[in-house]
Amino acid sequence: MTAEIIVKKPAGKIAPNLADYGVVQAEFSWDAARRSLDGLPHGGGLNIAHEAVDRHAQGSRADHLALRWLGKSGAVRDFTYRDLALETSRFANVLAGLGVQAGECVFVLAGRIPELYITVLGALKQRCVVSPLFSAFGPEPIHTRLALGSGSVLVTTASLYQKKVAGLRERLPQLKHVLLVSDDGGRTAEPGTLDLATLMREAGPRFTIGPTDPEDRALLHFTSGTTGKPKGAIHVHQAVVAHHATGALALDFHSTDVFWCTADPGWITGTSYGIVSPFTHGITSIVDEGDFDAERWYRILSEQQVSVWYTAPTAVRMMMRGGAELARGHDFPHLRFIASVGEPLNPQAVLWGRDAFGLPIHDNWWQTETGGIMIANYAAMDIKPGSMGKPLPGVDAAIVKRAADGAAEVITAPDVQGELALKRGWPSMFRGYLNDDERYRKCFSGEWYLTGDLAKRDADGYFWFVGRADDVIKSSGHLIGPFEVESALMEHPAVAEAGVIGKPDPMQLETVKAFVALKPGFEAGEALRRDLLGFARKRLGAAVAPKEIDFIASLPKTRSGKIMRRLLKARELGLPEGDTSTLESGT
Ligand code: PRX
Repeated sequence: MTAEIIVKKPAGKIAPNLADYGVVQAEFSWDAARRSLDGLPHGGGLNIAHEAVDRHAQGSRADHLALRWLGKSGAVRDFTYRDLALETSRFANVLAGLGVQAGECVFVLAGRIPELYITVLGALKQRCVVSPLFSAFGPEPIHTRLALGSGSVLVTTASLYQKKVAGLRERLPQLKHVLLVSDDGGRTAEPGTLDLATLMREAGPRFTIGPTDPEDRALLHFTSGTTGKPKGAIHVHQAVVAHHATGALALDFHSTDVFWCTADPGWITGTSYGIVSPFTHGITSIVDEGDFDAERWYRILSEQQVSVWYTAPTAVRMMMRGGAELARGHDFPHLRFIASVGEPLNPQAVLWGRDAFGLPIHDNWWQTETGGIMIANYAAMDIKPGSMGKPLPGVDAAIVKRAADGAAEVITAPDVQGELALKRGWPSMFRGYLNDDERYRKCFSGEWYLTGDLAKRDADGYFWFVGRADDVIKSSGHLIGPFEVESALMEHPAVAEAGVIGKPDPMQLETVKAFVALKPGFEAGEALRRDLLGFARKRLGAAVAPKEIDFIASLPKTRSGKIMRRLLKARELGLPEGDTSTLESGT
């Protein structure tokens, strides 16, 4: 824990929404937060797309810029709330015209292009369940998720379809409609697909959202565990109450803001805060199609007059590598709040923000399962660099230990390490893992949702991240399940078994490293290593595939046959092996 505390000065021109943490925490209620949204007309319930788009398009912010898209090669496309309402309605009509019903699952696999944002919101209007997929996934992760989610519609680009999806169609019997976005503006013509632009032109621009129960399923985001297939975390329309409230309290949105969330909607940050939250506030969002590039990012922050910026520690570390001088070559007169999420934010990074931008970086914490920000450093609150901050008003967080019978016991003493737990009841809490009730149940002990993260709480109520309680890997802010990587490697004819760990990395936090035992008759060597790296990359995609592979005679396993990844990691890092009492002899 660092000794320095960044004491906040009195508010500048714009007073923070959360001026006094204690007061807001005492007064906050989720019911009141719900009342700051509209709800569907005539008591029709609560729908995310109405709160994000239609209510602004029908009101005074219709002509306000909602989304400015910056293309990789310099193109710019602007959408006002009115434009967004018309386009999303067209897409809802496209789905209705195809006979796609409320509750069916629509997947979107695309880079950060306007069609991604339009189709996600349009599908929510038609009350479909939407799952955005990361476009850097390879065919295997795409197949696993489409099959688990029984996706009946896929929106993707012609090039991604050719490269990654066409070969999977036979294995996806539930997939009824594939709608393609052209890469070059022409008409797409892949067999077994439809051209999205043509359908959109033919569809009407008006659509009335049907009655939506706040508990209706809305978003499906896959996350990774230590074992088994990815878990599909289910979120409901009511989550929008938390998206909106956290936008105000944790990201300090004001009506004049230009907001840039750098996350891809294939990961939940890019949906909750790259789509839903800023739109519910009627503010302007910047979407950059390009990948990370420090100079480009400084230019965007400056030229687009970004006022609130939400990014990830890996990106901050990459910018730090270029030095604060690079930042000082630009002016950021509009920037007033910077936040980061996804991995621990080093104290140096918090302070670097001050050097580079004149603003500290505000760490916050949440998970796919929590749907929105749960612990944060707020605009008006003093920062202890290295701490995740304090729980969101309306959220009860605690450090617990699990008793022998599984019950969660709250640790009240400060600075004691335990598992971070949240009391159930906030609106964006996941409502289940798709087709896996057992796994869902295991996440709870009585009233407590157990996060799987280890943390401490200090005497002032600040929370400090310690580490994960499981073997899941965090690389560049993305969760990667070792099992998914191991399963792909096992499909190679030479591989008898594989164990995968996260290897510490100064930039990406962790990189994926695999240990592979070969079948008899195969010889370890450079050629096979390269072949395996290429094989994994082709199946899993660059974001998930291992960067390093070591050959090993056999993997350490428990007597019940589970790979002891913890031991692989300790051996890799030269750390003590800890308790090996369950280790199978000879491994
Ligand atoms: O281990 C914690 C880490 O990221 C996990 C959640 O990852 P994911 O489900 O992909 O959610 C992404 C949306 C944020 C957490 O269980 N994590 C997240 N934020 C922080 C963090 N670790 C340390 N500090 C954080 N601020």
